[in-house]
Amino acid sequence: MKKKLNGLYYPTKDFQKQANLNNKKIYKEAQKDPVVFWNELAKKEIFWQEPFTETFSVTSPSTSSGPEIKWFSGGKLNLCENVLDKNVEKNPNKIALIWEPENPDEQTKKYTYEELLSEVNKFANALKNLGVKKGDTVGIYLPIIPEIVIAMLACTRIGAVHLVVFSAFSPEALKIRLQTIKTKYLITADGYFRRGKIINLKQNADLGIEGTDVEKVIVVKRAGNDILWNNTRDFWFNELTNNESNICAPEKMNSEDLLFVLPESGTTGQFLPIMHTTAGYTLQAKITGKWVFDYKDSDVFWSTADPGWITGHTYSIYSPLLNGITTVLFEGAPDYPTPDRWAKIIEKNKITILYTAPTAIRMFKQYGAESFKNCDISSLRILGSVGEIIDEPTWLWYHKEIGKNKLPIVDTYWQTETGAIIITSLPGIGPNKPASAGLALPGVNMEIFDDNGRPCKNGVEGNLVMLSPYCPAIVRGIFACPPNERDAQEKYKNVYWNLYGKDIYVTSDRAIKDKHNIIKITGRADDVIKIAGRRITTSELESAVNNHLQISESAVIGVPDEIKGFIPLVFATYRGTKNKDEIIKEIELEIRKSMGPIATPKKIYLVNELPKTRSGKIMRTLLKKLYFNEKDLGDTSTLSNPETIEAIKKILE
Ligand code: WT7
Repeated sequence: MKKKLNGLYYPTKDFQKQANLNNKKIYKEAQKDPVVFWNELAKKEIFWQEPFTETFSVTSPSTSSGPEIKWFSGGKLNLCENVLDKNVEKNPNKIALIWEPENPDEQTKKYTYEELLSEVNKFANALKNLGVKKGDTVGIYLPIIPEIVIAMLACTRIGAVHLVVFSAFSPEALKIRLQTIKTKYLITADGYFRRGKIINLKQNADLGIEGTDVEKVIVVKRAGNDILWNNTRDFWFNELTNNESNICAPEKMNSEDLLFVLPESGTTGQFLPIMHTTAGYTLQAKITGKWVFDYKDSDVFWSTADPGWITGHTYSIYSPLLNGITTVLFEGAPDYPTPDRWAKIIEKNKITILYTAPTAIRMFKQYGAESFKNCDISSLRILGSVGEIIDEPTWLWYHKEIGKNKLPIVDTYWQTETGAIIITSLPGIGPNKPASAGLALPGVNMEIFDDNGRPCKNGVEGNLVMLSPYCPAIVRGIFACPPNERDAQEKYKNVYWNLYGKDIYVTSDRAIKDKHNIIKITGRADDVIKIAGRRITTSELESAVNNHLQISESAVIGVPDEIKGFIPLVFATYRGTKNKDEIIKEIELEIRKSMGPIATPKKIYLVNELPKTRSGKIMRTLLKKLYFNEKDLGDTSTLSNPETIEAIKKILE
């Protein structure tokens, strides 16, 4: 990109010329009537088994539930058919998937579109034979191996709803997810490699399914480690698929049939199993790839996210494959066995588009540009960022060292709830601004509202909202099995549709718009902290701390961290006599056990008492101010225990 005097970056002429979108007129066209705009795209981009009859509708069934949003009603389609059959028709021998194992000496695996279709069909037939029917839910607890793609696509082919559980999640986290969807089926692996060590995933799965409805467990052989085997319940993946036919007709799905569920956490630690439906998700996943990453037939796209997260769902798998290009999956950690591992993967596979998270970019920035110097990464033509704010120094480093001052950077803003990208300046149009996500995509109407629900003036921070008709992949609800559906509907309404009335979608992010309509995300409006791009609420962390038998109360704040963006800091009340260092170690263990090592706190402080208001609310903002040694502590007159200020200051010294 080229920097102009106004501090904004614009595409080079050459890039612009070849870009899929290179004329800003599209914004105006879309704005005239977003529904018509999406209607035309849906007709063009999706293979419909039966055409849809109504493009968009929204109704409010009751005062205690959120809106019922429908896109492309009346239509029938199958996501997997759009991904595989349609691309096999075009070019069966095109590479769909490249898989890089963690161990660089192990063989890379490649699947053409035809081979992938064949594998997916075999597994789809195997699932049917095990009893999986259209509408059933299936749990997927797999590491980054090709079978995770095969399993997800096989589910969508037969109309089963997948719920992918991140493989590093604990047995307890797996259990809650399986219980939520009451699934009878789980797909897992014997184990996987992480930094050269074997992780026994099957053992976690065995623990996680206790007390759930799971009756059948399908196990992919990956690491060859010893596992416990239950003859009536467990099945080897390859034994199931070996003799299956590679033909399986794609189910006819309604546009609004549930496609997948993916839980995230929201305000005050709420567990939110996000629901996505078939047509809207398919369209937005496909079109955003074309627009934002400028997909061309020759592209090799690498989204470094784990398929267990929404970025992995949409951009490691569905978006590139819907567009018939090659996608790359890498099993391992970014800097294993050496810090140049990513550069080597880019060089080896001639990757053209790299989509990653600021936390990884910051890590490489700390290693220094040397970690990329000895490899030829000149195949790259677009860089992407996602998941959290990319600060300006990191953006500039990414632009200079990886992008050679030339490549466009798309800073893409979206959420698990929006299913696909909604804000980013397009690489062939611009303008791009460091540390600002950019313009709302054509057809998406984003606003920034003040506390009274009025649009903020340019330059004034407020709450980021999305206005009707939202976006095709917008979250349709919070999943729950009977008898909990009412609660879930209420949650859906309260989390997303309550702050400004029932027709305004609330993102829970704070943002500012500049005079060019460029949106800069400034932080979360709720208690979510983004640790290495992962959504964790302070309340979830606090309950993990409070699991410790001797801790009755705690407060967690997020403080900036050079690599992870934010990192938790824990204040826990402890008045016992045990060795404090031991207690601190135990608390850390509790956190790692329930939230994973990623949430390991920067520091744990044991205090006598936490600062509270007279109504008993813990004052986390005050703790933050004390930690940063701010002079102005704000209004402390409502404190019921002002003496805690001095006590905590002492501990922090
Ligand atoms: C939250 C959603 C987006 C898919 C992966 C994360 C933050 C996301 C950006 C960005 C600043 C960002 C927001 C958002 N976020 N992208 N480009 N700039 N912040 O999905 O885990 O559901 O998290 O991530 O806070 O609400 P998620």
